Amino acid sequence: MNFDSRNVPFFLAPVAGYSDVAFRAICFEMGAALCYTEMISAEALVRGHPKTKLLLARDSSERYFAIQLFGSNPTTLAKAARIAADYKPVVIDLNCGCPVPKIIKAGAGAALLRTPERIGEIVRAMRDQTSVPISIKMRTGWDQDSINYLEVAAIAVQAGVCAITLHGRTRAQGYSGKADWEAIKVLSEQTSVPVFGSGDVLNAGAAISMIRETRCDGVMVARGAIGNPFIFSDLNELDNPKEAEAYSYKPPSLFIENSSCPERTLLGLRNPGIIAKTALHHLEMSARYLGERTACIEFRKHFCAYTRGLPGGSELRAKAVRCSTIDEYKPLIEIIAKAPT
Ligand SMILES: Cc1cc2nc3c(=O)[nH]c(=O)nc-3n(C[C@H](O)[C@H](O)[C@H](O)COP(=O)(O)O)c2cc1C
Repeated sequence: MNFDSRNVPFFLAPVAGYSDVAFRAICFEMGAALCYTEMISAEALVRGHPKTKLLLARDSSERYFAIQLFGSNPTTLAKAARIAADYKPVVIDLNCGCPVPKIIKAGAGAALLRTPERIGEIVRAMRDQTSVPISIKMRTGWDQDSINYLEVAAIAVQAGVCAITLHGRTRAQGYSGKADWEAIKVLSEQTSVPVFGSGDVLNAGAAISMIRETRCDGVMVARGAIGNPFIFSDLNELDNPKEAEAYSYKPPSLFIENSSCPERTLLGLRNPGIIAKTALHHLEMSARYLGERTACIEFRKHFCAYTRGLPGGSELRAKAVRCSTIDEYKPLIEIIAKAPT
């Protein structure tokens, strides 16, 4: 498999409700070059909300991370960037793509696409307060009649962003339809800063197609990593060892004994033992940060994702929604390990 000579990194995208400390650590261990926190309210961060601080927790195994902030007020975002910088992210990203009505109503997320000059103002204010590089993540526009990603990008570059992620959908599309990779290609061609592509990278093969079709400088994986952090080890193992090294490949230490496991294929056929081991590791790490009860409740959605497509998965999921201790999960996780392939 010959990718292309560039070193294109793969990132875990910001995913609200999923990309917390434990999941990011696992994706990083699997070979993600960088994982983004979920979007964090600049206002809550400035107010010192304890739950918000938890979103910034980082496991010592996650050597690098990126923080994403959302908001609409340049002063608040600047203050938040200064606070975020204390957590030593490699980049602080501004959310310009969230389509959720509550966020839009507050003028944040994708609402910023309607006032591109505000994005420039915010980026400049953030840059004034920190030396951590600032990036933005945006959609192609508000709706089909107001596609303006090139205009937004030009303003953001002028304001000094270090990179731009483009999710190839409009705000109006939400998550429906097909992501517009042509827009990612056009932006990559026309922008002087690195462009990362986002949208519909649901398996390793799609990541490779995105790189080939768009020539983007990095690929963000969101839904494709949920229940499937193995997508990052797949990506890093696709190439020959020399190229893999260039992609900052790091063998996932958890699975060294399984790293040549033949069941791990591009098609997503997995060794259930590996899924089970990852799921338990995920749950235990989560409990260290959130406390056992909260971690067990939060883990239900991850459990559903880990068992997606597994024979007998629906019965396991029905039982998992009642688990509130690790010991209650363990017998279910053991069943995953024994699932027929
Ligand atoms: C449940 C969920 C939560 C998300 N949360 C965020 C977020 O906090 N910040 C952000 O910029 N994008 C967020 N996104 C968008 C993703 O980062 C990504 O751009 C989008 O899902 C398209 O990529 P995919 O096809 O790989 O899922 C979220 C998407 C989903 C499905």
